[in-house]
Amino acid sequence: MARRATLKDVAAAAGVSVTTVSLVLNDRPARVSTEKREAIARAVKQLNYVPNQNARSLVTKQSKLVALIVPDIENLFFAALAKCVEDECAAQGYSLIVANSDDSRESEQALLRRLTSRGVDGVLLIPARESCAAGAGAALREDVERVTCPVVLIDRLTQCGWCDAVGFDNYLGGRLAAQYLLEGGHKRIGIVTGDVAESSAADRRRGFVDAIEQAGERFDPALCVSGDYRFDGGYHAADRIIDGGATAVFCCNDVMALGFRQRMAERGLRVTEDMQVIGYDNILKRFGLGWRMATVEQSVADLAAACWGMLRERIDVAVRAKSGTESGDARPWLSNPQVEVLTPKLVQAACA
Ligand code: RIB
Repeated sequence: MARRATLKDVAAAAGVSVTTVSLVLNDRPARVSTEKREAIARAVKQLNYVPNQNARSLVTKQSKLVALIVPDIENLFFAALAKCVEDECAAQGYSLIVANSDDSRESEQALLRRLTSRGVDGVLLIPARESCAAGAGAALREDVERVTCPVVLIDRLTQCGWCDAVGFDNYLGGRLAAQYLLEGGHKRIGIVTGDVAESSAADRRRGFVDAIEQAGERFDPALCVSGDYRFDGGYHAADRIIDGGATAVFCCNDVMALGFRQRMAERGLRVTEDMQVIGYDNILKRFGLGWRMATVEQSVADLAAACWGMLRERIDVAVRAKSGTESGDARPWLSNPQVEVLTPKLVQAACA
């Protein structure tokens, strides 16, 4: 295999010093003529020079790598979020590593250890469902406190209060879904929830129930079924809600709504005419699957911009602290955590 071109090779080929090449390639302020910049660009191309990031990180004390740990990589919401986060990071010269905990605390703990040992500059973490269960928060907090780089929690446990976090107002989202169906004249409404041990699922259900009861209607617990945020969960919840006489259903994420609709189709039931369905996330339209179904949107683009903005700010402070140009608290994401709560919005059914 051919030897990898070095900075010295580029300097020799361009007829300039190694320092000049380094200043130009790192976009440092420098009085370098256009001719020399063009000569350097030609040499980089001819030699197929690729900066050695490992060597560079020893100097800059930065890997320019960040990690995103999602709980279910097969869930379209997290896939869409990963793409938006990647867009945000790449625009600022960072590379993203996406990892899947599969809602397992053990996997999440191993990933946190492995990724931080690789020297990532920051971690965006959507806690696994097992980490959100009652009594599991302390263990997750210990794991996060062992991490030496900045961490931002996303989407779940955003109200935990001990770490930087960004998420949506899930309680409001549940209320929006209920109000939409109540305004449609429905009185017997079912709900397919995520695992209510996890805060986003519990808050959506709580907002939904409060809105129904405050409207003077009765919430029937027999029409409340857990679907674990997964397709088969929505599918297997359908019979109980359909046979329970519901005329409408709130599926607490779009993936479960797909499963619910699949079962409706098998039973010859039409969306809207036979059962009104509202989902959550608004990630189906990009796959042409959102037809005839309203949903509560939590914009992945807004979530990605907010969590990356928060993490990048903490990374910059950490890098300055490493280079000695910043004093103060070593881990402000834990000692002085910021929480940003975004607002979900109702999106009417397309092609009704
Ligand atoms: O669809 C997956 C769900 O889990 C999303 O609604 C997101 O909020 C996450 O909590």
